[in-house]
Amino acid sequence: RAGLDTYRIGQVVMAHDSVPSTQPLAHEAASKGAPEGTLVIAEQQTGGKGRLGRPWHSPSGTGIWMSLIVRPAIPLPKTPQMTLLTAVVLAKTIWEETGVEPKIKWPNDIFIGDKKVSGILTELNAESDRVNYLVIGIGLNANMTREDFPEELASIATSLRIESGKKLKRARFIQRFCENFEREYDDYLREGFERVKSEWEQNSYTIGKWITVSTIQQSLEGKAIGLDAEGVLILEDAQGKRHKVYSADVNYRAN
Ligand code: BTN
Repeated sequence: RAGLDTYRIGQVVMAHDSVPSTQPLAHEAASKGAPEGTLVIAEQQTGGKGRLGRPWHSPSGTGIWMSLIVRPAIPLPKTPQMTLLTAVVLAKTIWEETGVEPKIKWPNDIFIGDKKVSGILTELNAESDRVNYLVIGIGLNANMTREDFPEELASIATSLRIESGKKLKRARFIQRFCENFEREYDDYLREGFERVKSEWEQNSYTIGKWITVSTIQQSLEGKAIGLDAEGVLILEDAQGKRHKVYSADVNYRAN
């Protein structure tokens, strides 16, 4: 099967060779009215951005570096659900296209074994309480060999090529991602978060693990129990007390 079987996700693609980051380009396009589903892709990023202000290593030719514009009609507090949805879709597409089974590390890293293969950076544009659009940035280590990773990443990062032993066809992967995203997203808009929640939990690296979560205000330790109906992580501490953990700007460590 060739081509792209969607009606909006990936129907507009803005493809670049080398850019600082696809995120600001997607914001610019979105604020000029780019339709929902517009995808900004780059072959290389010279200033790729990760979560929590970290850099994101985005060399030429070996990765998928892209930012997706969506305009969901959902209330502001529900927008983190879109990141969980994206993680579910990424994990599913990786499994379908490579046969390797990735796990989702809360809130939105994709792991194979104990190494990270993909990350998601969601940025929100809202006016007062109204969501204008989201830019969902996706970085996927596709075709790096072990030697391609800089020393500081070698022990914590991996690629689909390393894990599956095969080179990924990137264009095909992106098409399948768009199709899976559209299906999951349409279901979510119609039916709500429930399916995403259960798929996220089924593919979770985090559930059942003892973790430490720290925000600026507090540090919490406990066992990750699951997501609540809204997508907030539930942590049970040593005293059996349950805590809600919101993904925004949280650092965490799996003990
Ligand atoms: C993370 O795990 O910290 C998130 C990484 C997100 C990286 C992607 S690559 C495409 C888009 N452009 C960026 O500069 N960042 C995101």
